[in-house]
Amino acid sequence: MYRSHTCGELRSQDIGQKVTLSGWVQTIRDKGNLVWVDLRDRYGITQIVAEIEAVGADIVEKTKELGREYVVQIKGEVIARHSVNPNMSTGEIEIKAEEVNILNASLVPPFTIEDETDGGEELRMKYRYLDLRRNPVKDKLLLRSKVSLETRKYFDSVDFIEVETPYLIKSTPEGARDFVVPSRMNEGEFYALPQSPQTFKQLLMVSGYDRYYQIVKCFRDEDLRADRQPEFTQIDCEMAFVEQEDILQTFEGLVKHLFKSCRGVEFTEDFPRMTYAEAMERYGSDKPDIRFEMEFCNLNAVAQGKGFGVFDSAELVVAINAKDCAGYTRKQLDKLVDWVKRPQIGAKGLIYCKCNEDGTFKSSVDKFFDQDALAEWAKAAGAEKGDLLLVLSGETDTVRKQMNELRLHMGNELGLRNPNVFKPLWVVDFPLLEWDEESERYHAMHHPFTSPKEEDLELIDTEPGKVRANAYDLAVNGVEIGGGSIRIHNKDLQARMFELLGFSDEEAKKQFGFLMNAFEFGAPPHGGIAFGFDRLVATMGGSESIRDYIAFPKNNSGRDIMIDSPSTLNDEQLAELNIQTTHTVQ
Ligand code: AMO
Repeated sequence: MYRSHTCGELRSQDIGQKVTLSGWVQTIRDKGNLVWVDLRDRYGITQIVAEIEAVGADIVEKTKELGREYVVQIKGEVIARHSVNPNMSTGEIEIKAEEVNILNASLVPPFTIEDETDGGEELRMKYRYLDLRRNPVKDKLLLRSKVSLETRKYFDSVDFIEVETPYLIKSTPEGARDFVVPSRMNEGEFYALPQSPQTFKQLLMVSGYDRYYQIVKCFRDEDLRADRQPEFTQIDCEMAFVEQEDILQTFEGLVKHLFKSCRGVEFTEDFPRMTYAEAMERYGSDKPDIRFEMEFCNLNAVAQGKGFGVFDSAELVVAINAKDCAGYTRKQLDKLVDWVKRPQIGAKGLIYCKCNEDGTFKSSVDKFFDQDALAEWAKAAGAEKGDLLLVLSGETDTVRKQMNELRLHMGNELGLRNPNVFKPLWVVDFPLLEWDEESERYHAMHHPFTSPKEEDLELIDTEPGKVRANAYDLAVNGVEIGGGSIRIHNKDLQARMFELLGFSDEEAKKQFGFLMNAFEFGAPPHGGIAFGFDRLVATMGGSESIRDYIAFPKNNSGRDIMIDSPSTLNDEQLAELNIQTTHTVQ
């Protein structure tokens, strides 16, 4: 028996017991006749003591041989500590070592296995298995495991069944590029890894499994960011015989259950809802962070026509009100101007207006706007004495995007985005299509299986861009946690949709013939949603980076630097797959 107890469970009531512990050496303190070892496992740390007078020189010498991260087994007696450590759950006791067995030695780890480590990101990723020994990382994985367990409990309680769908499939159109896998048995042909199980879950509805879910890996070859990984996990869900309202209620129930059971956060009210159009107008984002206000205020009526060309030629002049920030110094304001001018944001400039405590105004465009004109701005934006207005102008969509970034930046600067406050929001009525300048055609905003709103159907031929969809997203704290839609279940409407998206009849049949065929055999009305599991867990943990919540993540170039992947194949493998590469990797 390697252990009778874990390193996290012995307490003062265990004093006098003979125990066996196994774990890793966290630290050793050598005082000559007396050696202390902190022994660590997943459950905690227990202090081991070897003192010549108590256990003899042999044991003490053996203990001195240990090094950091050695795997050892200690047998001994639980005794009371002279000085209790109130910061440790096992801090009242220690183990008097009577036998010390080295189960495995360890090299000196390349960084300290402490909560605050000296290891940089790159090093920790290369030795991720060591990084995973650290408490902050371990706690994140424990949260992930708990969320996954509670997800299954919730679904079980409301009659959902988990069905697995294949990974070697044909391309699914979720908007990213596919990862592809060559088929050895079918020369020259490729599988695609699923961007999501979208078409399969719809087929399951046709098969009558009216409440499906799956915690499933999805693969998307797209540019990576803090909240994107090339392989990530979804809680993928689908229901039959439902309308949008049924879906929102069922999955709001899931999210409430998860926050309560995994974070102790109880949402007593219904989640607020907002249309896409309203979200864009008020926050310039389809996933607004509503933990703080600073809503957009349209200044067109009060800022245009006063001779300031930049505003006059703009489609939109929009302000946010940074409360109590009129005291911003010249330097702080210059920094903000530089911030919005960075290529990532791309604004040409930023106009400000301070609402001074004495009732006067000071703006960066005083030349064009007198005190009365600025007072009108303040009134329109609901600004009071002591506030600071920040104004951007230009083409509507561009300015909204820029202002959204600035708003979030100000939220961060002013400490308004508390990671322990959770504000969910349903965003509904997304547009069905979006125009893509590059390819000069419409793309499905969600995916091609999303149904248009019945009342907008008449616009589909005349003004397709105005058609709204039965599509919804759940945002929490400004992060898109999940998204879904009520699907098209009518073959003709689905064919019309493919046509709108620029698929020829033949292409549509080639790519989605199986789904169109299935729709001829009694497809029920259905709809669903998928949650980004990594994002959900990271948000619950108060972080925007999903990488920390994934045991073995990839870096921003899509590489796993621990296993050194992707990597080249040898010539035999390539030949067997009938593949020639033109690129040589150094
Ligand atoms: P969608 O494409 O919106 O919908 O994806 C659902 C959710 O998955 C998460 N997500 C990601 N998380 C990490 N890394 C990524 N690269 C990544 N891409 C997406 C987001 C997102 O909200 N089949 C549809 C769902 C449906 O209609 O039912 C789908 O996949 O949190």
